Amino acid sequence: MKTPINYEIVKEEIEKSGLPVVGNATIRELVRLVNKIEARTGEKFIRMEMGVPGLQPPQIAIDAEIEALRQGVSSKYPMMEGDAQLKIEISRFAKLFLDIDVSSEYCLPTVGAMQGSMACFMVANRSDKNKEGTLFIDPGFPVQKQQCKVLGHNYYSFDVYNYRGQKLRAKLEEFFQTGKVSTVLYSNPNNPSWIAFTEEELMIIAELSDKYDVIVLEDLAYFGMDFRQDYSQPGVAPFQPTIAKYTDNYILLISSSKSFSNAGQRIGMMLISDKLFNRRYPDLKRFYSTDGFGYSMIYGALYALSSGVTHSAQKGLAAMLKAANDGTFNFLEPVREYGERAKVMKKLFTDNGFKIVYDKDLENPIADGFYFTYSYPGMSGVELLEKMLYYGISAISLNITNSERIEGIRACVSQTNSTQFATLEARLKQFNEDQING
Ligand SMILES: Cc1ncc(COP(=O)(O)O)c(C=O)c1O
Repeated sequence: MKTPINYEIVKEEIEKSGLPVVGNATIRELVRLVNKIEARTGEKFIRMEMGVPGLQPPQIAIDAEIEALRQGVSSKYPMMEGDAQLKIEISRFAKLFLDIDVSSEYCLPTVGAMQGSMACFMVANRSDKNKEGTLFIDPGFPVQKQQCKVLGHNYYSFDVYNYRGQKLRAKLEEFFQTGKVSTVLYSNPNNPSWIAFTEEELMIIAELSDKYDVIVLEDLAYFGMDFRQDYSQPGVAPFQPTIAKYTDNYILLISSSKSFSNAGQRIGMMLISDKLFNRRYPDLKRFYSTDGFGYSMIYGALYALSSGVTHSAQKGLAAMLKAANDGTFNFLEPVREYGERAKVMKKLFTDNGFKIVYDKDLENPIADGFYFTYSYPGMSGVELLEKMLYYGISAISLNITNSERIEGIRACVSQTNSTQFATLEARLKQFNEDQING
């Protein structure tokens, strides 16, 4: 069969990969497989499997990191609770971009938001011995479930798409009423569907979390990236929506990877509400030397995980946050590019027989952002993903995000720039023709 990428080679590499079902592979497994096919065929894929920033890192961060290294920071261990300057800038950032007050003492650096969620599970899911784990408001980021699994925690999940607005209340309550849910986690905007919760929905989550004493883990990995709104002006509304407006039973996880194009430095932020930080949970003593929540987080979980965060990465983030807080660096301006790409790429798909899976955000069309979701009539996402590898297009199936929409695929726009649009279009066109012509 004549496909844009050599059919035999793709077939062989899929077989060699040892993956039982290639369409169900994890993000990193697909990265590996596609790297191999690219190396053997010399052909470049349209790579949409991994949410890696496709933009240059900000110079402010690079300069600050170099300066820190020149001053010799690398010979010393970093403090567990984080660099004092960075903590102040995180707290200012919370005030200026979320319009909330979190004391700098309760603003912690983490090794990516990924480490932040791991530490949260390690502490929050162990704060009450009668509870068992996390409720994921899905579809979601698969690695967080992997974290729960390796910790031996249970987790629960539902696809939120059919439970928007007031319908969310009964669905959440169904899980919370079991008395088994320690934490509830969602990303906003959502990876992969790109829906964004409304203030009404955040209020419902907050109200029920208070009622059932569930800690909210709000994952702001795509901070400010719902480009329908301009969240980029410090101290000026609108602000990135947050649960912190409605409850003090929360932890916010803010990544610097996407909004600040800083993924390689593996630095994120954890902001714990003042009340939660100081709360005592006797059951924590099963795992930590104290019953203090904040203390267990820093000197129990984060200590055990990495004993602090690289000095220079902290300095780089502090410099970016300071500039954003001072209004001299619009951190969201460069990443608007992703929204522009999504708009074009979605049209290329829908013009060639594909459908957008999560196509509505309540009654509005879904926003253009870092991810979009697609399907092709008559195929499951798993089948579609494998077939598209022969056409030089890689992504992940929605199956692995705990989505109910098993026909779907998640595409990340970040690695596809406008110079590749013509190739993408040609490959989609051929795919569509080949399906029609059998
Ligand atoms: C929803 C979500 N949460 C967390 C992360 C991890 O972020 P970090 O790179 O800061 O570890 C990602 C990264 O893709 C993500 O999509």
